[in-house]
Amino acid sequence: MSTKPRLFSGMQPSADSLQIGNYIGALLQWKEMQSTNDAIFCVVDLHALTVPQDPALLREQTRRTVAQYIAAGIDPERSILFIQSHVPAHPELAWILNTLTGFGEASRMTQFKDKAAKQGTDAASVGLFAYPTLMAADILLYDTNVVPVGDDQKQHIELTRDLANRFNSRFGTTFVVPEPVILKATARIYDLQNPEAKMSKSAASDSGVVWMLDEPSKTAKKIKAAVTDDDRVVRFDRAAKPGVSNLLTILSAFTSTPVADLEASFEGRGYGDLKSTVADAVVATFEPIRSRALELLADPAELDRILATNADRAEAIAQPKLDEVYDRIGLLPRR
Ligand code: TRP
Repeated sequence: MSTKPRLFSGMQPSADSLQIGNYIGALLQWKEMQSTNDAIFCVVDLHALTVPQDPALLREQTRRTVAQYIAAGIDPERSILFIQSHVPAHPELAWILNTLTGFGEASRMTQFKDKAAKQGTDAASVGLFAYPTLMAADILLYDTNVVPVGDDQKQHIELTRDLANRFNSRFGTTFVVPEPVILKATARIYDLQNPEAKMSKSAASDSGVVWMLDEPSKTAKKIKAAVTDDDRVVRFDRAAKPGVSNLLTILSAFTSTPVADLEASFEGRGYGDLKSTVADAVVATFEPIRSRALELLADPAELDRILATNADRAEAIAQPKLDEVYDRIGLLPRR
């Protein structure tokens, strides 16, 4: 038995390729947390179904997501990396938690309200409404201590904690009450062409978005064409110099160098220099990740084998927890 804290986090299989923001904002930090935690990472395909998906595309993106996480350093032997739908205990516990969640309580989730407003309340599914209880099930099945997530997921972790406490006080101590670890938001990455907006896969133009699976020459080209300003000083100033500040943030993350040190080293040097340095740093990191991911994707049988083993490892933790829940709540055992 490991004495390290149990860590659980999840990511949706929502893009063909991850971009710089996912890398710095989540993946890189998860990768580092693997050594100090007993880590479990879940590709939450059932969560992806809460908005309409194309079946073939979903399947493809799920594989691609897994391949990129492994290629970027999530170790499927030391940690567990699995697909949510491979472990039926997740939706099963989610159902139990649904019965313990107030309608009003779920209605207050801001992410649901935002997404429902975007789709129109009639188009929003019951699945979308129940998104947070499925997420709570993900976390609670594994006696999770820490949940590294973006700031936008804080309310969902609060709900998870409430549900854990509610179940424990009603039916006896069953769940560990997890703590959120909010991922460093300092590393927020903006669109290279429109540095006022977050770098996002839904950007109007692809030229401002750097994908992990882009060809290195394409990545370098995009970075060298990044929007800057008419001034010529390499200085971090989010408000006055969003483009340059964004490049500094990226360089800082990829070289583990504080922004202030970078500013000093670029004194008297121009934007051209800055852009080539950023391009080199990003390509140096992404090129090996890209080749490894493509290699994994070229061998689907091996990827499936890894996923099957990891699903077994996850299930070996989750199923006994679900059995305990069913028993405590009064469901008759099958045998
Ligand atoms: N909702 C999370 C997100 O959008 C993804 C997620 C699903 C998750 N289940 C989880 C994150 C469990 C942490 C733990 O980022």
